[in-house]
Amino acid sequence: MELPTFAAFVTSGLEDIAAAEIKASLSGVRILETRQKVVLAEAADPRVFKNLRTIDDVAIVSALSSSVDSLEDLITLIASGADLNETIAIAGRADIFEDAFSVTVSAAHTAYGPGKVIEEAISREISKRYAWQYIQGQRAAIDVRVFIDGTWAVIGIRLYDEPLSRRTYRTANVRGSLRPTVAAALVRLAVVDGKRHRVWDPFCGSGTIVCEAAAMDHEVWGTDIDPEAVDASRENISAVNHAYWGRIENADSTNLKTWQRHRSATAVVSNLPWGKQVAIKSKQALYTSVSSGVAELGRRGGTGVLLTAEPQPIVQRLSREPGIRLDEQRIGLLGQTPTILIVRPVR
Ligand SMILES: C[S@@+](CC[C@H](N)C(=O)[O-])C[C@H]1O[C@@H](n2cnc3c(N)ncnc32)[C@H](O)[C@@H]1O
Repeated sequence: MELPTFAAFVTSGLEDIAAAEIKASLSGVRILETRQKVVLAEAADPRVFKNLRTIDDVAIVSALSSSVDSLEDLITLIASGADLNETIAIAGRADIFEDAFSVTVSAAHTAYGPGKVIEEAISREISKRYAWQYIQGQRAAIDVRVFIDGTWAVIGIRLYDEPLSRRTYRTANVRGSLRPTVAAALVRLAVVDGKRHRVWDPFCGSGTIVCEAAAMDHEVWGTDIDPEAVDASRENISAVNHAYWGRIENADSTNLKTWQRHRSATAVVSNLPWGKQVAIKSKQALYTSVSSGVAELGRRGGTGVLLTAEPQPIVQRLSREPGIRLDEQRIGLLGQTPTILIVRPVR
């Protein structure tokens, strides 16, 4: 029997780590294709995706084509794909379906107009074909997910009420809070041996990285110079594991003493302050302390994973450090392309 295909939507640049999580965490799932922002997989049971941490959202695929050159082609794709009623049933959403639907479009590199135009064309066709009511401006229980990259297009039905990237622990936010699925990917990049690690985030903000690490059953510590961020982080981590509340401290991580206090960490995972968050005069201190801290960690056998919009000052400093290896990986996030720096021991 042919198994249904699922499209897992991920942050650009994190496709491989998401595919690795799918492979490692789910039995009976086969990866079919990995392309920018999407991992296609086949699986018998749609519920298996629910607990993945690096995936932003999942849809069950109704139709897919790599040769959609025009809006007409896209409309034809709806006709040539599976019956949407059937897709809704496979997604396990038939019980909540009340003949109303919404449409969510992501479109890049298309020659046939912006997302709004595509949404209108798709909703008109579905309303006509199925006599369902189109709900505009809000998400209906049945959300038709359309993803287009150039001439490659997929049309599916979203599997869950909420995007997978939403986290119930996140009740407190600070400016610059990280997307939880990216935080989870950073932790997975740092921890590749399947063991329980001691993870420290020296610039923890609202604690997204420590929350993700704790949810993956690692021991965690977090530090931030801003007392409001410490409060936010403590509130969030309490919802994951209250025992870690006291491990979030107010401290300056440009101070080497802060790094010495966390010498027992086996992984340092952080997204560094950027832009106006760092006064120019302290940037030098920030890059110097972070570079020497992760270099020392690497030589001790640990791993440092840093997300930064300004990799160069750290790359320059680390390229002179003996006993460590440095890898760089670009991602796409909120219209920017920050870099993940990964520092590992030389084996
Ligand atoms: C990009 S934010 C981190 C966001 C965090 N990952 C989250 O999801 O909320 C960087 C954080 O570094 C903190 N910070 C800036 N300078 C610092 C320093 N010298 N020591 C410790 N924390 C600092 C800021 O207060 C800010 O909360």
